[in-house]
Amino acid sequence: MPKYTLTVNEKKQTVDVDAGTPLLWVLRDNLGLTGTKYSCGEGICGNCTIHVNGKAERSCVINVEDAVGSSITTIEGLAEKHDHPIFKTWIELEVSQCGYCQPGQIMTLAALLEQNPKPSRKEIDDALNSVLCRCGTYQRIRNAVDKLVEEGQ
Ligand code: FES
Ligand code: FES
Repeated sequence: MPKYTLTVNEKKQTVDVDAGTPLLWVLRDNLGLTGTKYSCGEGICGNCTIHVNGKAERSCVINVEDAVGSSITTIEGLAEKHDHPIFKTWIELEVSQCGYCQPGQIMTLAALLEQNPKPSRKEIDDALNSVLCRCGTYQRIRNAVDKLVEEGQ
């Protein structure tokens, strides 16, 4: 099998997988970064969202070979590096229910706030609307986002 060297959470890691393996599987199965979740596998639900060069991307539809040379950040990297205010607000407002979709919600929001610390309601909705939550935590997510934006985080 071919070898691919990826930069994940600022560390270079080499994996030995078939060409065309989704990045999601590499993160979870080869690198043990199971914070990134599998749900639809088709780029629809947003639960597998990570950052690729600072942009929110769906890791289930990125082939491993296309990730070589990019800077990849997972929820573990976000948690480690930044002590990000999103985590504090999420805990304070008890946003999560089962938690399964939350890494995707948080990674999507973190990318948005990084690019635009004061997004409009429409920009927030456009970014988060397609990240699905089976538990229906949408109102709590909205409250948390409003608090973060108000506080200029
Ligand atoms: S698992 Fe990737 S978008 Fe649903
Ligand atoms: S918190 Fe359960 S799927 Fe969103």
